[in-house]
Amino acid sequence: MQTLVINPDRVLSHRNPMIYGQFLEHFHRQIYGGVYDPSSPFANALGFRSDVLDALRRIKVPVIRWPGGCFVSSYDWKLGVGKQRVPAFDKAWRVEDPNTFGTDEFYELCKALNCEMYICTNAGTGSMEPMSDWLEYTNLEREGRFARQRIENGYAQPFGVKYVSIGNENYGSWELGAKEKGEWARLVAESAKLLKRVDPRVEVSAAALPDPEWNMELLKHAGPYLDWISIHEYWDAIHTTNALASYEQAMAYTEKLDDSIRRVEGILAATGYSGKIRIAFDEWNLRGWYHPNAHGANLPNNPELYIAPRDRNDENSSYTMADTVFTACFLNTLLRHADSVKMANYAPAVNTRGLIYTHRDGIVLRGTYHVFDLFVNQMGDRVIDLWAPEQQAMPVVAKDGREAVVDALDAVATRRQDGRIAVSLVNKRAEGTMQVSLAYPPNDRPGAAVLHSIAADTALAYNDVDAPERVRISTTEPVVREDGTVTLCLQPHSVHVLLA
Ligand code: AHR
Repeated sequence: MQTLVINPDRVLSHRNPMIYGQFLEHFHRQIYGGVYDPSSPFANALGFRSDVLDALRRIKVPVIRWPGGCFVSSYDWKLGVGKQRVPAFDKAWRVEDPNTFGTDEFYELCKALNCEMYICTNAGTGSMEPMSDWLEYTNLEREGRFARQRIENGYAQPFGVKYVSIGNENYGSWELGAKEKGEWARLVAESAKLLKRVDPRVEVSAAALPDPEWNMELLKHAGPYLDWISIHEYWDAIHTTNALASYEQAMAYTEKLDDSIRRVEGILAATGYSGKIRIAFDEWNLRGWYHPNAHGANLPNNPELYIAPRDRNDENSSYTMADTVFTACFLNTLLRHADSVKMANYAPAVNTRGLIYTHRDGIVLRGTYHVFDLFVNQMGDRVIDLWAPEQQAMPVVAKDGREAVVDALDAVATRRQDGRIAVSLVNKRAEGTMQVSLAYPPNDRPGAAVLHSIAADTALAYNDVDAPERVRISTTEPVVREDGTVTLCLQPHSVHVLLA
């Protein structure tokens, strides 16, 4: 029996709802054929898929980061606005982008979802001025040619973009316009200054790493102008192989799930920016996206070798309870670091390895979608103290053959606005149920309890077009004992939120 002791009077942090944010890139079918598909029978007057919008509304998407990702590092935003859209060759992914989805459509999408706009700018082939021109277009009332252009395009009111990131992964050789740390720090400082001159209200982030050298240089030059620092992580790095980690190998990644966050927290503390600069974990997913032959020196010219393979990201059988359980563990990690991580963006929201898969006749909600549904709609905004006197160990073998030991149970307690205590509970074991007893203090004993669960018959279970509800949320009402304890029997590879 695993015991958890809850101390609601000890509030550890307040989570920002933006940790449940989303990311959409002009890659494969995320935009065209994903959220935006005018030819779809589900398309609304603006060309957005209404079934996708409804699903995103249900998980209360708070912010969307767009348009990339690698895509943005050669993106010319000016081709994507106005009456005459000019198709462009997307040099990041080597396909033609019709530019029929641009800044105006992104504004309409975020308006339809009642979520914040988060624009990632081109610091690859682009320079600081097109970045600030973009902000003039979106945020100035009418001053200057870009604001006037927006008005001519039919938008009299500014879009009110709240978040802007300077660049995307410009530290990596795979990125177009990659930079050394010194030139990057200077570019970010000057670009951030310019953006703040256009709209001092805008919150500026910059591409960063859990790497002290990169971040120390960045913060030395640009720290005074930054509000956020962006980091990314895909644990199962299968971009060129699509060799998916097994369930056990995926659980091995949970051994040090907050390693990157702790490193950045340490750098922010060392430079005196803790509390001023917040962490935006603005791309994360267990699985790296599959796009072989996309980067590097010797690229093929045969689309069968670099475009066609991207369809394999659409294989729903790839997204099993490993993805479902891992996603819940990382959301728990974000809650544990809610005082420093104030935004996170699942990569991506739609298609590729996303929460929602679209097809001609509808959508499939993958297991990871239901995790967001649980956390967004059931967990609270205040993280409270939860103590496990002893942890059940779970030995695993990682993908590289390394033996590791992880906790079998991952749990976080929160208090909701309605006063109820919501505890997320993840049984990471591939086999075997787990008995868990939750003890509440005398002055906070639950009268009744509700358990929302995501479970499945096997660790390899997934949702697909022909079986859309194999993995779903079910609800039960566990007994609350007179002494205020609640005892649960958690199925293997399962995710739960207990409301009491
Ligand atoms: O694999 C997709 C890429 O992952 C995104 O475009 C980039 O931001 C990250 O490296």
